[in-house]
Amino acid sequence: MQNVTLNNGVDMPILGFGVYQIPPDQTEQAVTDALAAGYRLLDTAAAYGNEEAVGRAIRAGGIPRDELFVTTKLWVQDAPAEDNTRRALETSLTKLGLDYLDLYLMHQPYGDVYGQWRAMEAANREGLAKAIGVANFYPDRLLDLVLNNEITPAVNQIETHPFFQRTTDHDLMREHGVQHQSWGGFAEGKNNLFTDPVLTGIGKAYDKSAAQVVLRWLIQRGIVTIPKSVRPERMAQNIEVFDFRLTEDEMARIAGLDTGATLFFDHHDPEMVAWLSKRRLEG
Ligand SMILES: NC(=O)c1ccc[n+]([C@@H]2O[C@H](COP(=O)([O-])OP(=O)(O)OC[C@H]3O[C@@H](n4cnc5c(N)ncnc54)[C@H](OP(=O)(O)O)[C@@H]3O)[C@@H](O)[C@H]2O)c1
Repeated sequence: MQNVTLNNGVDMPILGFGVYQIPPDQTEQAVTDALAAGYRLLDTAAAYGNEEAVGRAIRAGGIPRDELFVTTKLWVQDAPAEDNTRRALETSLTKLGLDYLDLYLMHQPYGDVYGQWRAMEAANREGLAKAIGVANFYPDRLLDLVLNNEITPAVNQIETHPFFQRTTDHDLMREHGVQHQSWGGFAEGKNNLFTDPVLTGIGKAYDKSAAQVVLRWLIQRGIVTIPKSVRPERMAQNIEVFDFRLTEDEMARIAGLDTGATLFFDHHDPEMVAWLSKRRLEG
């Protein structure tokens, strides 16, 4: 597995396994299958409701802890957020059955962002999270966080796929040493991604699927990717992307698919801001 090195020296696999929208009663099996397929980076979140199942699969898998890279995410907390954030982190660790995280991400740029970040910085210093980062931060919010805090986020996990390529975000992150991580790398299949003629056409030359072309394209851009699947044959397919290389011309043809717009929701939309900001998790 190819790694990237984060801004604090921590190594992170460039490809991992995401468990969003996998129901808790299917998650243990899915993660068990993913570990068997060779995935070592697991991406969950308090908000996904499946941390306990991820933890069970980790324990059953018997893979040495230092060979795994486990990410979970902090949900939005009320101010003053320091104590709430600490409690949320401890709850996640307990549910996962771990004594440290490899990466702890602030899931949304809402709530008491500064209080949340200070608590995450403290957890990082104590070794409870080897790296800390954010998700869904657009350039304005990211730069504000970077410029006004001690620790620069190691990662920003944002919607990134062929139809929303985030080149401006990517350049800003690179400038400030923040690793770009893609969520929704397949756009969850929207816009007929899996049968897109440009992607399938490029794949034909290598005997690869559109999904594999997308993952390869992300990897060649230096972006960490975490495809989700509940099917072992797709998990195997999605990790077999290190035996071919896209040409500059193929990368340019994929660049031509960018629409510059989200296929999910806009974090600047006041209705979405209100909905996400007000949501609270139980337990
Ligand atoms: N930070 C955030 O706010 C945020 C938001 C969304 C997601 N994420 C993270 O990013 C991860 C990935 O994003 P995502 O789960 O939203 O979607 P995704 O990875 O873009 O797409 C997943 C979909 O693609 C299908 N699929 C997977 N491999 C395939 C293949 N080789 N051929 C055809 N279909 C395939 C899956 O179906 P099957 O399962 O049936 O195979 C599923 O329907 C998440 O699991 C989560 O960890 C983070």
